[in-house]
Amino acid sequence: MASVFILNGVNLGTLGIRRPEVYGTMTLDDIERLVGEAFPGVDLEFRQTDFEGEMVGFIREAADSEGLVINAGAWTHYSYALHDALESVDVPKVEVHISNVHRREEWRRLSVISPSVHAVIAGMGVHGYVAAVRYILESPDS
Ligand code: DQA
Repeated sequence: MASVFILNGVNLGTLGIRRPEVYGTMTLDDIERLVGEAFPGVDLEFRQTDFEGEMVGFIREAADSEGLVINAGAWTHYSYALHDALESVDVPKVEVHISNVHRREEWRRLSVISPSVHAVIAGMGVHGYVAAVRYILESPDS
């Protein structure tokens, strides 16, 4: 069975109560259910952590999977550690942001992890996760 890692970083555990006008009202559990229903035959490893080193470990674990989706939260904008971890994992990788980071504060426009992934999705709300998994499953490498 195909396995896809869906990794959520710092502060994403508070989805549902954190700035609903920006991120919507769905919790991470709701998103996990939504993606699971969209891909019933796929083994989804859905994770969240507020610890950068733990996220590096998750990324390495995904090395044996069909691909990984990552919403790195604020780490996106400054974590060279996540950039390097992603770069070292040779599977299809998609960076997802629920909000359109380009319509927000200037500092959110820079992603230091984008050069180490194949695709970037921003501003599609929670549907970005579904689109990202579909991309991975349709990728010739998976
Ligand atoms: C986010 C955007 C980031 O700038 C922010 O720090 C987040 C969430 C998004 O999903 O839109 O935590 O990655």
